[in-house]
Amino acid sequence: MTDDRMHLNLFTMNAVEHVTAGNWRTAGDQSHRYTDTEYWEEVARLAERGGFEAVFFADVRGVYDVYGDSRDTAIEKAVQTPANDPELVVPAMASVTDHLGFAVTRSTTYVHPYQLARELSTLDHLTDGRLAFNVVTSYLESAAENLGLDERMDREERYDRADEFLDVCYALWEDSWEDDAVVRDADAGVYTDPEKVHAVDFEGERFSVPGPHSCEPSPQRTPVLFQAGSSDRGREFAARNAEALFVSQPTEEGVRSYVDDLRDRAEDAGRDPDDLRFFPGIAPVVGETEAVAQAKYDRYRKNVDTEATLALLGGFMDLDFSELDPDQRVEHIETDAIQGAVNALTKHVPERDWTVREVAKFCGLGSTSPVVVGSPEQVADELQHWFEDVGVDGFNVKEIVRPGTLRDFVDLVVPELRERDLLREEYEDGTLRERMFGRRRPPEGHPAKRE
Ligand SMILES: Cc1cc2nc3c(=O)[nH]c(=O)nc-3n(C[C@H](O)[C@H](O)[C@H](O)COP(=O)(O)O)c2cc1C
Repeated sequence: MTDDRMHLNLFTMNAVEHVTAGNWRTAGDQSHRYTDTEYWEEVARLAERGGFEAVFFADVRGVYDVYGDSRDTAIEKAVQTPANDPELVVPAMASVTDHLGFAVTRSTTYVHPYQLARELSTLDHLTDGRLAFNVVTSYLESAAENLGLDERMDREERYDRADEFLDVCYALWEDSWEDDAVVRDADAGVYTDPEKVHAVDFEGERFSVPGPHSCEPSPQRTPVLFQAGSSDRGREFAARNAEALFVSQPTEEGVRSYVDDLRDRAEDAGRDPDDLRFFPGIAPVVGETEAVAQAKYDRYRKNVDTEATLALLGGFMDLDFSELDPDQRVEHIETDAIQGAVNALTKHVPERDWTVREVAKFCGLGSTSPVVVGSPEQVADELQHWFEDVGVDGFNVKEIVRPGTLRDFVDLVVPELRERDLLREEYEDGTLRERMFGRRRPPEGHPAKRE
């Protein structure tokens, strides 16, 4: 915890279901409205009413086809398919809000950095500096095939490419246009002073980009950088580049060990460890009373689709759960998909020798993050404990039903957190980075830092 108040992100996806499998069937769930602009506008207004820092959009570019070596389960049960593009709903959401941030997931594996730097600068302009970029390297083999490769690149190569990719973006965002390059001098007929727009002349192993950047400086230049890599190489990458980290660990020990490790690595990379912000995921189930919350939880639990959960986890881990006996223990494996998902279920929970059945049950609501069930006071107690005692900076609120999980949280838990002075009553002015970190630019020691 590096601030007096916690920061909240809504963890969602421009799809029917994200990390909960089967609850689109719950009465009143509106997940199918993900195709409507009005739905996303409602979500944005609701999140801003609740003082959220940002809406975070996950994204994948392939189908979950590891389970049973087939895409059928994923398609039949809406496992992150169908899914629309996350970036394109951001301007609509920004236009109905004033302060809420938007964290979009984009992969560095399949696009060119010049192209992505331009898209993200555009969004930073259109949101008045409320953009964050969740940097991922992608894990689905099916995405690699869709995007022109014969097979998924191995992890080392993905992260090496991601490091170089970001260096190109930093050069375009930070070095190309001087702050006062645009002069708009109508009398002289000069829009931009060419002396103040520079080539970047980036020459790397994978990318050669002369520049200049095509966009004039956006409010943040470099968007706030989120990351969730959790393998050894992923952590090294995060320690160098991330400003905020999504932590996906089912236990307090897992979160503590991740936070300590990342802070140590950031220090080794020449950064101030306190410059990093940590956001574990939680799936809240809240009701006016404990009994109401428990009844909701029971209902949600009944709607969990086990096969769909295993199809989702199978994609995360690149492991075909259909071949395993439900009572078989889930062994630790090394994977080229999300190593962190494997570790979360097999390494940081030594006291839980989980079987396939138990893993499916645990992950059915909110994947590898804990579910917090209770009255507003009970849920707030739990969040306060994590914030004050475990030392996290806030939470990634995962949805079980939509927009019900968010609405319950905003109507019931947010007032309780505000009462305890743990959450802002009103937004501070400024860009997303200014609100989250109290600074305009990436800090000392960060590779995007200039001067
Ligand atoms: C909480 C969390 C959220 C993630 N969200 C996405 C996502 O939306 N899209 C994606 O392609 N990868 C996502 N990932 C995957 C990673 O960012 C990373 O690319 C992947 O974990 C492989 O690296 P690793 O083995 O170092 O974890 C997520 C991982 C975690 C832990």
